[in-house]
Amino acid sequence: MNASIQQTAIVTGAGSGIGRAIAHRLAEDGFYVIVADRAEVPALETVSQLQERGFMARAEILDITDAVATQKLIDDAAHLRVLVNNAGIFEVKAFESLTVEDFRRMYEINLVSMFTLSQQAARKLPRWGRIINLASRAAFGARNYAHYVASKAAVAGFTKALALDLGEKQITVNAVAPGVIQTDMLLARPDLHLLRDQQPTGELGVPEDIAHAVSYFADPRANFVTGQVLIVDGGRSVGGTAAF
Ligand SMILES: NC(=O)c1ccc[n+]([C@@H]2O[C@H](COP(=O)([O-])OP(=O)(O)OC[C@H]3O[C@@H](n4cnc5c(N)ncnc54)[C@H](O)[C@@H]3O)[C@@H](O)[C@H]2O)c1
Repeated sequence: MNASIQQTAIVTGAGSGIGRAIAHRLAEDGFYVIVADRAEVPALETVSQLQERGFMARAEILDITDAVATQKLIDDAAHLRVLVNNAGIFEVKAFESLTVEDFRRMYEINLVSMFTLSQQAARKLPRWGRIINLASRAAFGARNYAHYVASKAAVAGFTKALALDLGEKQITVNAVAPGVIQTDMLLARPDLHLLRDQQPTGELGVPEDIAHAVSYFADPRANFVTGQVLIVDGGRSVGGTAAF
């Protein structure tokens, strides 16, 4: 990183949960943070928190499915170095009740917007720029939200493909796949107590656990790491908690 110019990181969905923690962590790492979210009040709250801590940040209120708005977001970002595609939606819905519209909406926000923003950013990112995507441990399979699972498995595949496509431009592309993290999104789940019981450590994750992984991929010393999907789930993906 050029030490004399403050580099910019855009974090989508930074008005809440994991995105907010990523915004705080990247600010601590020295980035000027653009908090991009469709929810104005929470986005401004994140910016206030950052400014109170003495960091430089601003909010951009937009829906990431609006390609004109995302292009403006990229155009207006001076010294852009890092794009974190964090914004996403989650919904519990039994397979029998799922509709094509549910699937399309999930894909539109969790995947198609990620493609659009990444393509727009890639035209601007400098050598050794970073694209960091939020996938999910659920990509391995989970019950009662096939549309979400499919969208996050697609994020993992997209991340690997993009890492190859942008290799020549020396832009690294990686993903973090969180396990169960305590955020508002999680409150939508009726099975919270079961999720905790299934953790090898007996603990759910916190947003800062994910922010730490994002910080690693964003670090200027991580140039040789691309196309990776880092699972941050307290060991849940390794196996169950049974003693045999
Ligand atoms: N919380 C978990 O346990 C968990 C686990 C695995 C993966 N993830 C992924 O991590 C990411 C963040 O999750 P979270 O738990 O912090 O969610 P959250 O619901 O707390 O925050 C999501 C943020 O994205 C914003 N957003 C949603 N759709 C948007 C749109 N179309 N345009 C602009 N902003 C939009 C929301 O306003 C919100 O601020 C998501 O991609 C999610 O799928 C979360």
